[in-house]
Amino acid sequence: MTARILSGTEVATAILETLKKKVKQLDPKLVVVQAGDNAASNSYIKQKLKSCEAIGMRHEHIQLAEETGLPELMMLIENLNREPDVSGFIIQLPLPKQLEKHTPQILRAITPTKDVDGFGAYNLGKTFLSKEFEDLPPATPAGVIELLHYYKVPIEGQHAVVVGRSNIVGKPLAIMLLNRGATVTVCHSKTAGLSLITKQADILFCAVGKPGMITADMVKPGAVVIDIGVSRDEEGLKGDTDFISVSEVASAITPTPGGVGPMTVASLLRNVVRAKQRQVEMINKTRNLDESML
Ligand code: GUN
Repeated sequence: MTARILSGTEVATAILETLKKKVKQLDPKLVVVQAGDNAASNSYIKQKLKSCEAIGMRHEHIQLAEETGLPELMMLIENLNREPDVSGFIIQLPLPKQLEKHTPQILRAITPTKDVDGFGAYNLGKTFLSKEFEDLPPATPAGVIELLHYYKVPIEGQHAVVVGRSNIVGKPLAIMLLNRGATVTVCHSKTAGLSLITKQADILFCAVGKPGMITADMVKPGAVVIDIGVSRDEEGLKGDTDFISVSEVASAITPTPGGVGPMTVASLLRNVVRAKQRQVEMINKTRNLDESML
């Protein structure tokens, strides 16, 4: 079997096209905060800003020094929370060493209405409750779900195996799949007999960041394989799957690059538009309430 290639670039282009009109109407602004100069972050941020340009979304990249301390970053977050012209902002991860251990506290400081990465407890909580409550879902899991939807890959009733349990991909993806009727198994670095479990997957999601760790013998013939992990070596970007051999076994597979990456960016920008939409609705509601009190 030679797998069908599920191009994220194609789907992301379609999503970005649909966002253009709303961006023109609402004129939202995204701010990307980076501390330090991590090479992978530089490349992700470049993609995000390039896509903002492509759809006419206002954007700003705030790059802080590598040695930035917690009080300085928290003060910037407070200012961005209060600035009415900023529709949404993200703190690019990973943070430098001295800030990394404070990541939960830092993410918690972002006001939920501007948390366009969907990493804070409020938005994650809504995502946890049900599909209908998802408002600003985490960008990568939301992009993955959208990709499956576009290529008409059914989720309900399927056995989904997620390899990886990060707070920003593995865990929320597992919940979003569960909310769509999949039977979900989550595997991680401590899982015994990994290949026995991955071989049972109708849809296999790999979000580890270990290049080539998913080999053909770990995949059930005909399974759909969604490769989320990204690593970089001298040859360029690599996914978690051994792409050539797995393509011989799977019925469909995402490539790296051009798979989940562009979907993450499109989902982020969609969240920015949604955030601005909600903020405008809130302003109008308050105004109507004020007028009704006169
Ligand atoms: N680092 C890797 N992926 C992401 C992402 O989606 N958002 C942020 N803020 N940092 C990341």
